[in-house]
Amino acid sequence: MTRLQETTVADQVIAITREVGPRLDQCELTHFVRREIDVEKARKQHLAYEQCLTRLGLTVMSLPGEPELPDSVFVEDVAVVLDEIAVISRMGAESRRQEADSVRAVIESFRPLGSIRAPATLDGGDVLKVGRTLFVGRSSRTNAEGVDQLKRILGPYGYEVRSVATSGCLHLKTGCSYIGRNTILANPALVDTNVFDGRDVIAVDKSESLAANTLAIGGVVLLPDCFPRTHSLLEKEGFPVSTLDVSELQKTEAGLTCMSIIISTRGVQEKRS
Ligand code: GLY
Repeated sequence: MTRLQETTVADQVIAITREVGPRLDQCELTHFVRREIDVEKARKQHLAYEQCLTRLGLTVMSLPGEPELPDSVFVEDVAVVLDEIAVISRMGAESRRQEADSVRAVIESFRPLGSIRAPATLDGGDVLKVGRTLFVGRSSRTNAEGVDQLKRILGPYGYEVRSVATSGCLHLKTGCSYIGRNTILANPALVDTNVFDGRDVIAVDKSESLAANTLAIGGVVLLPDCFPRTHSLLEKEGFPVSTLDVSELQKTEAGLTCMSIIISTRGVQEKRS
């Protein structure tokens, strides 16, 4: 695993992660009931997640922990990173806003920055990129101003930003994720899938309502190991699946995308040449 000081910007795909902090069990919860979290076990599961990304060919840049910020392992919410620009969020949960400082300091070496500003709020977990379209969930964390500001920032780069209704889930990507081949895995009970016109939608198995948050990377769809029916469904549709045990992290209302920001350094090379 590459620590910050060893990082180079050769043509790589980088996953920015952050270690699990000691106060994980005091994380924000919106739709979940608080359950006891074994923080040591969560740390081991998070390490296995980072090791899996490394095996898949990514360069993992693991940021130092933020012991005072319980949700700081969920770096995805801090920024929306595209090839041309990164937009630093103003997160919907006030308790999480300080998380942005250290991540901004890293991302600015890879991309020019834009920012979401008050009164707008936006969490990266509400942003699903499919080609040049960004679907943005309207959730308890992302408001209409957040969607509008993202649209204004990204319009000049040729991105279309489309708002999506969500219901009963923390983020848009709690209820759907892009798995490649123009296909979105979704739970239609949580996300209005009508907005995905022109894309194929695979619905998760009805008994696995939280199976839609996957991380498609390195030629596989990473899926928590507690969703065997959706796993079979994906394989039947020809998507290679790899599983991880993230049981302790799931108690925090998190999914697999939440724990990394993926950055290709191709954009950096182009910018510098
Ligand atoms: N516990 C994850 C979040 O609420 O953002």
